[in-house]
Amino acid sequence: MTPQHIELVKSTVPVLRENGIALTSYFYKRMLGNNPDLNNVFNLDSQNSGRQPRALAAAVLAYAENIENPSVLAKAVEHITTKHVSLDIQPDQYSIVGENLLHSISEVLDVPMDSELIAAWKAAYLQLADILIGVEKQKYENLAAQQGGWAGWRAFEITEIEVAENGKLFTIRSADQQATAQADNNEFISVKVKVPNKGIEQPHQYTLSANTENTYQFLVKPEVDHTEYSVSNILLDNYKVGDQVQVTAPQAK
Ligand code: HEM
Repeated sequence: MTPQHIELVKSTVPVLRENGIALTSYFYKRMLGNNPDLNNVFNLDSQNSGRQPRALAAAVLAYAENIENPSVLAKAVEHITTKHVSLDIQPDQYSIVGENLLHSISEVLDVPMDSELIAAWKAAYLQLADILIGVEKQKYENLAAQQGGWAGWRAFEITEIEVAENGKLFTIRSADQQATAQADNNEFISVKVKVPNKGIEQPHQYTLSANTENTYQFLVKPEVDHTEYSVSNILLDNYKVGDQVQVTAPQAK
């Protein structure tokens, strides 16, 4: 990035932050509208209920503010990449997010896409995307290299559902009956289910409770005030022993 780019980006962060809600809602609407496949990736339940973390756009703004000192963001990078890897986010998806984010910035700031300002934001986004893609590549490699490890989604079968005090305990084991990575109890997995009558899938993260060799167990609590996209409610209401879910490898939080 040139010094002019850095100046341009930093000078527009406050306006974008003030318009954070407009930026985020325009961004998600545009992106999901143009790329319906991403409805399987983003959590539609939290978006519908207005709780959608403004996290993605906010993280880009926070990064832009600290653009001369990216080490400030090391903790955020660790957090974001862990989440992304648990959702099997891939490098080619960064161009989709980037294009939609830049269009949203252009809309909110009311500047044309071919302006110097958008070129500056593009440079900033690409710099951040490069960092995240690099860290995520390393994490995928580490997960796959473990004994019984894997990267991305893997089919698991529900082997037991026990009623617990505040929900139900689901026990799962890999559908291929092969070994699965050893996990600590405070690690988490993403579990992806089919949304009834919608033709899409939705992921959600669960903390592991008890794990034996080759099985994982997690507690699913019913969610009140949620939409038909609530993964927990779908699991509780529609899934039974013998059904399959897609699961990403356990990671520390
Ligand atoms: C520079 C680019 C990006 C930044 C700065 C970024 C940042 C973030 C942040 C801060 C979170 C919230 C983490 C948490 O607290 O749970 C997040 C979550 C997420 N990100 Fe990214 N992200 C970027 C690119 C992408 C891409 C390319 C995709 C793929 C389409 C993606 C998909 C997601 C999803 C699905 C979530 C979980 C939120 C949900 O389920 O709705 N992100 N990202």
